[in-house]
Amino acid sequence: MHPDCERILVSEEEIAARVKEAGRWLTEKFRGTFPVAVCNLKGSSVFFSDLLRATQVDVEMDFMAVSSYGAQTISAGQPKVTRDLFSSVAGRDVILVEDIVDTGRTLVTLRRFFADRGAKSVTVVALLDKPSRRVVDSQADYTCFEVEDAFIVGYGLDYAERYRNLPYIAELKRSVYEK
Ligand code: PRP
Repeated sequence: MHPDCERILVSEEEIAARVKEAGRWLTEKFRGTFPVAVCNLKGSSVFFSDLLRATQVDVEMDFMAVSSYGAQTISAGQPKVTRDLFSSVAGRDVILVEDIVDTGRTLVTLRRFFADRGAKSVTVVALLDKPSRRVVDSQADYTCFEVEDAFIVGYGLDYAERYRNLPYIAELKRSVYEK
């Protein structure tokens, strides 16, 4: 384990098993269609690439960024689209891949964004959910793990742009973010 981590919350093996299940769920749901899978950068990037290799659906990949946190540990409020999609999603089924649903504000913003762009449907797959942190009523259609309200990093999640490449999800030591 990385020396800045306190404990592992979700192991590499647990992630792999659940990602496989999520991939199978997508295969069943989107069989015979050609959806656009959208990666909400940066946190979702690791989950996105594993998830799409675990599904047999033909997908177009697209990328965007929405941000409300910056280098802070607390939400700064209203999320903003900071990088737009490469392609149009008008008339398309969208699979939005998220690393975590926290306050729920990003999901509300993104569901509205895709509706405004004329998407045919939006299905949200989230790696993690922190229901105890929710401030707006919003949830993913498929969640891999529900987690407690700890400061977590790894498998895409960062603290000040570090730890995204850890293969597991771990709680960060207090001494690291209270320096
Ligand atoms: C994180 C995460 C989600 C969002 C969830 O992104 O990737 O998109 O926050 O929070 P919410 O439910 O409170 O809106 P962040 O802004 O940290 O950017 P990053 O993915 O580039 O780290």
